Amino acid sequence: MLVTGGAGFIGANFVRYTAAHRPEYRIRVLDALTYAGNKDNLAGLDEVDLVVGDICDRELVDRLVTEADVVAHFAAESHVDNSLHDPEPFVRTNVHGTFSLLEAVRQHGKRLHHISTDEVFGDLPVDSTDLFTEDSPHNPSSPYSATKSGSDMLVRAWARSYGVQATISNCANNYGPYQHPEKFIPRQVTNLLTGARPRLYGDGTNVREWTHVDDHNAGVHAIIDRGTPGETYLIGSGDERSNREIVQLILELLGHPADAYDHVADRPGHDLRYANDSSKLRALGWAPVYGDFRQGLADTIAWYQDNQPWWQAQKTTTETKYTEIGR
Ligand code: NAD
Ligand code: DAU
Repeated sequence: MLVTGGAGFIGANFVRYTAAHRPEYRIRVLDALTYAGNKDNLAGLDEVDLVVGDICDRELVDRLVTEADVVAHFAAESHVDNSLHDPEPFVRTNVHGTFSLLEAVRQHGKRLHHISTDEVFGDLPVDSTDLFTEDSPHNPSSPYSATKSGSDMLVRAWARSYGVQATISNCANNYGPYQHPEKFIPRQVTNLLTGARPRLYGDGTNVREWTHVDDHNAGVHAIIDRGTPGETYLIGSGDERSNREIVQLILELLGHPADAYDHVADRPGHDLRYANDSSKLRALGWAPVYGDFRQGLADTIAWYQDNQPWWQAQKTTTETKYTEIGR
């Protein structure tokens, strides 16, 4: 199995999950080790072959795809705030990089699973119980989600017109170990661990559906094993929470008063609410096993407490970037 982006947050957890649960796979990772990739995320996995390279490098991708049976494509520029500041790497990696993989799997007749996001569908009203489905129209808000939407459309077209054996999954927000401190939960946890206060964008009423990274990755395996090529599957735990609620839970779990946080400038174009109807994937036999969000969050906080050297250097650079954009 070729895993692109396997040194990033979800990709590295996927490699760890696959090594632990699916010993029939030999795993090769293709990762450019951008600011978001870290080879230490694969520490201890001596049997995993890491190729440091770019998914836009057609020659390299072609060679690696010929040597694989299945490609799990996680590599992307993934952070909305970065995309608002500098969209170009998002267009390059997310669109051109996916094109490069599609051409290689088309040429060599290989199976591809494309990992995407529910952000391609835009957002839902906060005061509704509406859910995204596989048939929801794409309506992306940010350069990040627009480029992920573009990549999904390429995959759909290559599946229909060229018969490429490709599936797509659109998952909601993930949490768990190895997530970069630029993202919401690790940022607030590492703020508190370094004596700073959590930073809530706008009024904090925006809602996200939180899925443990291992549940996401179990869903990816279910689709690779039992999904139908050409089809799209939504992944989500069903556990929706406002950003304010999450900050208050983190504060409580770390022993701080519930109001010890700051409001900062809102994100431009900030999506209000994401929530997925994952019944199509559940019909393949998948269900989340991390049912207790509070426990999953407590375990994640403990991971950041135990792995300070992992995030310390990235924390400083990340907060310098946030200071520049006033958040
Ligand atoms: P991440 O930013 O933590 O990791 C991305 C990885 O891709 C890094 O290791 C990076 O080095 C690598 N990469 C970037 N550009 C590359 C290139 N040109 N060539 C090769 N490697 C490159 O991202 P993540 O949060 O782990 O997200 C992984 C995937 O899951 C993305 O496709 C993202 O859109 C999707 N997704 C993320 C979430 C979430 O909550 N984080 C939810 C749903 C879907
Ligand atoms: O839904 C899936 C998506 O989830 C993935 O496709 C993206 O790759 C992933 O980054 C995530 O996108 P979000 O924009 O939802 O995640 P982020 O962690 O950046 O922010 C989550 C929410 O918290 C969002 O409403 C913005 C808010 N926020 C974020 C940060 C970093 C804050 O209030 N304060 C912060 O400091």
